[in-house]
Amino acid sequence: MTSLAIKTENLTKVYRGGRGTKALDNLNLEVPVNQIYGFLGPNAAGKTTTIKLLLNLIAPTSGRAWVLGKEVSETDVRKDLGFLPENPYFYEDLSAEEFLDFFGKIFHIPRRDRVNKVEQLLTLVGLTEERKQILRRFSRGMLQRIGIAQALINDPKLIFLDEPITGLDPMGRKEIRNIISKVRAEGKTIFFCSHVLHDVELMCDHIGILCEGRLITTGKLDELLATKEVEISAEGLRGEALAKLEGRVKKLRKEENRIIFDVEEEALADEVVGLIKHYGGKRLSIVPKKESLEDFFLKAIGREEYKPDERREK
Ligand SMILES: Nc1ncnc2c1ncn2[C@@H]1O[C@H](COP(=O)(O)OP(=O)(O)O)[C@@H](O)[C@H]1O
Ligand SMILES: [Mg+2]
Repeated sequence: MTSLAIKTENLTKVYRGGRGTKALDNLNLEVPVNQIYGFLGPNAAGKTTTIKLLLNLIAPTSGRAWVLGKEVSETDVRKDLGFLPENPYFYEDLSAEEFLDFFGKIFHIPRRDRVNKVEQLLTLVGLTEERKQILRRFSRGMLQRIGIAQALINDPKLIFLDEPITGLDPMGRKEIRNIISKVRAEGKTIFFCSHVLHDVELMCDHIGILCEGRLITTGKLDELLATKEVEISAEGLRGEALAKLEGRVKKLRKEENRIIFDVEEEALADEVVGLIKHYGGKRLSIVPKKESLEDFFLKAIGREEYKPDERREK
């Protein structure tokens, strides 16, 4: 289990005072170390509940969970965890530097190490020039960056980020993605929740899709999105040839003087290429197709359209 940063076994949460619905329903999760794991799902799917259980902030109704090879209830595992909540509270009268120093003190980091650590983190999140500015003057993107720096103050091995990118502009999102990639390059594991699919697609190695408390799918992103479909383009084919080829492919379309064939399986591609040649055509390209994360996600949650902010019926 040492190679797993997170493992859960039938982890289940029913909130007391709720309506008896399972906020989390028998979650079985395995997150390898040194990965960027994207935990996806519409609003109210149970993502924040999962983070709270993994941080031992709330107790499960049933099931078990481990982080860094230890049961989440073991207190000494805390020192190796970092956390940025969804709507963090920032003490706005502190400067960036004072804010980080304050968290360094909470973790009992000796003064000299603290100074170095704060310096290093301000550099990582690109806020060295704003170090003396009070947080009240920070933009949302800058606050998210200082929030990530705070989550890293104790040099954690595993970092939980709850919707770190939501609500940021494209530039702000890119900056956060770059920081997360750098943190991973230092050997750390990042578990982050999001309902913004695009950022997950650009950044994650592994994803899990949660819907109504249940994990619908999990795995390596490139393997999940891989399809067997192949797209072949050709030119110089006449009507008779096209009629013959049409029966062998899933779809055929014309683009200027080229014909594009969608072929369902790689195995059929050779046959189609052979037929193109046989009818005097010229093959131009063969490209394996990849599904978009959005299409994959919609299929997984069984919807036709994604409205991330709709509330779940209870
Ligand atoms: N403290 C609570 N008491 C009762 N119900 C809660 C509580 N926290 C969350 N829930 C419910 O649990 C479900 C999952 O919520 P949450 O984990 O916050 O989802 P997400 O982070 O994916 O949006 C929702 O239906 C939510 O209303
Ligand atoms: Mg949430």
